[in-house]
Amino acid sequence: MHAVRTLGAMLFAVIGAIGTARAADGSVRFDESSKTFRLDAAKVTYAFGVDDKGQLQSLYWGPRLGVSDRLSAAVAPAPGDAIDGNINRVRQEYSGWGSGLYYEPGVKITFPDGNRDLVLHYVSHSIKGSILSVVLKDIERAILVTLEYEIDADTGIVRRSATITNRTSTPVIVEQANAATWFLPRSRDYTLRFLSGRWAAENSVNERPVQPGKTVLESRRGTTGMQNAPWFAVRRNDANETQGQVWFGSLAWSGSWQIAVEQDQIEQVRISGGFNPFDFGYKLDAGASLATPSFYAGVTTDGIGEASRLMHRLELTKILPQAPNPRLRPVLYNSWEATEFKVDEPGQIALAEKAASIGVERFVMDDGWFGARNTDKAGLGDWVVNRQKFPNGLKPLIDRVHVLGMDFGLWVEPEMVNADSDLYRAHPDWILHMTGRPRTEGRNQLVLNLARADVRAYLFDALDKLLSENDIAFLKWDYNRSWSEPGWPEVAPDQQKNVYVDFIRNYYGILEKLRKKHPKIEIESCSSGGGRIDLGVMHLTDEVWTSDNTDAFDRLRIQDGFTQAWTPAAMMAWVTDSPTWVNNRALSLEYRFLSSMQGSLGLGANLNKWQPQDFATARRLVAEYKAMRKTVQQGRLYRLISPQGGSEQSATESVSADRAHAVLFAFLHSSTEKYPYPTVRLQGLDPDAKYRVRAIKGKFDERTPTTASGAYWMNAGIDLLLRGDFQAAALAFDEE
Ligand code: DGJ
Repeated sequence: MHAVRTLGAMLFAVIGAIGTARAADGSVRFDESSKTFRLDAAKVTYAFGVDDKGQLQSLYWGPRLGVSDRLSAAVAPAPGDAIDGNINRVRQEYSGWGSGLYYEPGVKITFPDGNRDLVLHYVSHSIKGSILSVVLKDIERAILVTLEYEIDADTGIVRRSATITNRTSTPVIVEQANAATWFLPRSRDYTLRFLSGRWAAENSVNERPVQPGKTVLESRRGTTGMQNAPWFAVRRNDANETQGQVWFGSLAWSGSWQIAVEQDQIEQVRISGGFNPFDFGYKLDAGASLATPSFYAGVTTDGIGEASRLMHRLELTKILPQAPNPRLRPVLYNSWEATEFKVDEPGQIALAEKAASIGVERFVMDDGWFGARNTDKAGLGDWVVNRQKFPNGLKPLIDRVHVLGMDFGLWVEPEMVNADSDLYRAHPDWILHMTGRPRTEGRNQLVLNLARADVRAYLFDALDKLLSENDIAFLKWDYNRSWSEPGWPEVAPDQQKNVYVDFIRNYYGILEKLRKKHPKIEIESCSSGGGRIDLGVMHLTDEVWTSDNTDAFDRLRIQDGFTQAWTPAAMMAWVTDSPTWVNNRALSLEYRFLSSMQGSLGLGANLNKWQPQDFATARRLVAEYKAMRKTVQQGRLYRLISPQGGSEQSATESVSADRAHAVLFAFLHSSTEKYPYPTVRLQGLDPDAKYRVRAIKGKFDERTPTTASGAYWMNAGIDLLLRGDFQAAALAFDEE
């Protein structure tokens, strides 16, 4: 993670320096007289200070303050109720667990002598470029914590992390390590928004009032998981999609994580996040350091929609591997739903030829091409081409794909192994397990212990060989089960829980090393759908698989949840068969295309079953998509009508960065009682510019002007003629 964090820091620094529009943007200032730190950028100010006892206290996080505004110095609060402990009244930026602290600490440590009290006070700070580092130290022992702060010049999003260094002469066990605690202004006026889900139903949007007590969003699964996404938004109760104050944030970590939202006894709201403390216990040797993941957070007064757009912008310009200018996502074809494990050379070539005829740019062969992989019961771990299916290796297929004008992608699931595999037979000790305990399987597979150096080396070599011997442009990196028995019996008992950190670091390490050695490779993060989506993996992979649920109607809700936190550029969406395997629901091909065209378009249908008119429809819509994809993938997204909560309608609009183009997608579940579709009023256009409307699919009221101002489209809006069941429309608005 450290490398990920460091690279992120460099990008921030460089972009901060180049993109400085106003003198103070992206700036960090320290006022010696009041001992206050202040970060300013875009529309945001973030401030904290050192109080008279040496504690670091949060002072302000909100809309940008005047340049000359002086923040009052932090003051240690007067003693409160004896029973509660004064420490619990302090708005500590980063706390040790000690002195009677009740709330989530920044860091909790057990020392070998049994001492578990840690009280962190300010020692020093430095400002290097756009990065502020503040060093804290325990009042007695040589435990140092370096807090890192950086504000993104473009979005005002603050990146925070902490590095815990053990300068004592003995190892210590770190039992909790958060990246940051964020404080909101003291108030009862907050609602928490968060994402929850499961396989085939990711990213449900939930809200609950922030009340006394704690809400914990987390994964205890070893990886990011689907139960919650590592993202939060807290809005003022009167804020909504288009207006009002919202604080939001996202953790860059692909292992077990936690975000805790607490309202304390004096109605302060604290949001902390980092490694999940459940079953955590990182052995930190004398002289060693543990870096937490980065926690990114921002604030806006323009509603949840703007909070999402700021995150999208951060991802596009700072997080994704090709930031600040990610390549537009190619239209891809994936074989999974068409052939499952029954892949072979003639079958894949037949699909590739059909895909190319539609305008597909990347052909991806999914599971089934290696080892004895005919079902999900065998072969995982043996990354050698199955010679029954591909007698001459992958080359003939790849060559044909290239001749057809596409590049070639391949599915892998490196961290997993079937018990029925050569790898497991040779190395039964390579998996996560606990001696003498059952080895619980999921989808007939076991998890390799990637924390081990030999496993890391084996996986890197296997993937490196695959990429060196074959002309592969893209890997779909899958991960299809959660951890059980997370043991690492080969190391000393007090080091075994390091697996939660070391596994993920080695995962990042392999991705980094592969990208370095094969700079043209692009990678998709997949985990039975959307089980591994977070800012950590997004820094090393170019796109993510949104959900195994490819029902185009269900996808509207899943995608709406996805875009709360993640950019549509990374949101892979395939057009698959009808009726869908998920719900046995029949949907027109156009409906399916329009649903997928809101993200990064792919196809996953069995093209062997298509009729000539299907190919004609697909060709037309793929061409339309290519014309609009910069707007959809890298423009500004407006969620006009939410599909959450069983809504009958939904609509999204994407506007290009220069506001010259917009595309509107609208969907109807079913008409009832002759109600017309609600008038759709656009957002984000230039009110004074003239835009011509064109239907890509669907009809609108014939009295609608063909050309009108942005002000007209945003206020008078447009009436779509959508009637029936599962109807869809797409309109393009182009400046004249
Ligand atoms: C789960 C993925 O989400 C699917 O898209 C597919 O790649 C299968 N694994 C293959 O086993």
